[in-house]
Amino acid sequence: MDFSASSFSSYYHLIFISLALIFSTLLVSRKSKQKPIKLPPGPPGWPVVGNLFQFSNSGKQFFEYARDLLPVYGPIFTLKMGSRTMIIISSADLAHEALIQKGMVFASRPSENPTRTIFSCDKFTVNSAEYGPVWRSLRRNMVQNMLSSSRMKEFRDVRDMAMDKLIERIRSEAESNDGVVWVLKNARFAAFCILLAMCFGVEMSGETIEKVDQMMKDVLITLDPRIDDYLPLLRPFFSKQRKQALQVRRQQIETLVPFIEKRRDILRNPGSGGSAASFSYLDTIFNMKIEGRKSSPTDPEIVTLCSEFINGGTDTTGTAIEWGMARLIENPAIQSKLYEEIAATVGSRKVKEQDLEKMVYLHAFCKELLRKHPPTYFSLTHAVTEPATLAGYDIPTGTNVEFFLPAISEDPKLWSSPQRFDPDRFLSGGEDADITGVTGVKMLPFGAGRRICPGLAMATVHVHLMIARMVQEFEWSSYPEGSKIDFGEKLQFTVVMKNPLRAKIKARVV
Ligand code: HEM
Repeated sequence: MDFSASSFSSYYHLIFISLALIFSTLLVSRKSKQKPIKLPPGPPGWPVVGNLFQFSNSGKQFFEYARDLLPVYGPIFTLKMGSRTMIIISSADLAHEALIQKGMVFASRPSENPTRTIFSCDKFTVNSAEYGPVWRSLRRNMVQNMLSSSRMKEFRDVRDMAMDKLIERIRSEAESNDGVVWVLKNARFAAFCILLAMCFGVEMSGETIEKVDQMMKDVLITLDPRIDDYLPLLRPFFSKQRKQALQVRRQQIETLVPFIEKRRDILRNPGSGGSAASFSYLDTIFNMKIEGRKSSPTDPEIVTLCSEFINGGTDTTGTAIEWGMARLIENPAIQSKLYEEIAATVGSRKVKEQDLEKMVYLHAFCKELLRKHPPTYFSLTHAVTEPATLAGYDIPTGTNVEFFLPAISEDPKLWSSPQRFDPDRFLSGGEDADITGVTGVKMLPFGAGRRICPGLAMATVHVHLMIARMVQEFEWSSYPEGSKIDFGEKLQFTVVMKNPLRAKIKARVV
């Protein structure tokens, strides 16, 4: 769930108003025949458009709008966004009840808008599939064949190379920029390169990588929600955008299918791929068995699965690193402590992945980072498989169930001084949290339950490794020098820094 008020430009209001008037009568007469459903409370809205006006007039980003409603309506409330009914959950207890105790019932996904359907090949991805055999097959394949701990080890070299490349990029950017570098762009690109290599297992030139990256960004922009996703009656006004979406999809297929064919070739003729990887996500997909289906995935479906694999861990990881570096710049004492731990663990040699487990402070830092700055403020939208209840309210099928993550990880009932960024809380402070939420929910940057992020372990390694290498190589400070960091937030697929972080760096002298 991610959209901003500004994306709903004001001239739509005219259309809203006329539609509201025409359909309100219809709705009222239909409503009276329905069995009463007790939805969680929420701000009263208009017929047909529901709370869409209030949101778009607020000028706020959706997460800000929702955050401001929490004190008014409590830990579970309803928003009617046109044809979508959203139930927003923001307490640890209710998240635990829904995602763990009633996990199976809350494990589905709602219907998609038409643009998403194009790119997901009609919900043929782990993240969009409804709870059922297709989701089980796709998720099992990804988890067992790509994200298991033994597979993770196989890709160590890929990560090591990507980290070297990241440090090199940062160094050369600093050299040509008076020591100043952009953080998000570099971190995001490093995560992207790792996932790209794991996914396709074919050699790619720097230029090709950049081209694929640009194409992935175009897809994400195309997937940005539009007003007609909430008011399907407006769809006829958006045929141009639909054509554009189909065009981007065609480009996505044209860009990625050649890599798929190349990998097929390499598998048929081992040794023909130069320095191609010994294993890739593609290898697991070509002959994948999908429960309830006779055929293996088609090329467009493979494109969709690959894009999911790459997109799932690119912006999320980049975002975590941007906030992480901001916190290190804001707190030089934390940065020094982290650097001292790194130096004490590895001496003058480069940090290796195997070193990470020995770095207790690094772990505390990254946990605090994901508590204070979960890269997505809402988990992916859930839906119930059958009518359910939560906190005494009805949760009908077809409603969007959203979990508002920062409200949980900043809940003063669960955390001492939750607004303070303090890695020590996990050490001397004696606080702890099970990041998977199984034994209790206190923070859930990766969601919880059956739909928990399958990339959790790998993403954690990426974040730890990137932070460790970036701090080992450079001393980070604010730019312009002496300026205070602006912790304003902005939604851009994930919740990134409103003013993208630029930092001044100095190579460490060992
Ligand atoms: C710091 C990095 C990451 C964060 C914060 C993150 C966060 C999340 C969250 C909040 C969800 C939604 C869980 C829910 O529905 O309740 C999710 C789902 C998912 N993530 Fe991640 N993720 C990260 C990295 C990755 C990586 C590296 C991959 C894969 C390579 C990945 C693949 C997925 C997939 C496939 C799903 C859908 C799972 C399902 O619906 O069954 N993520 N992630």
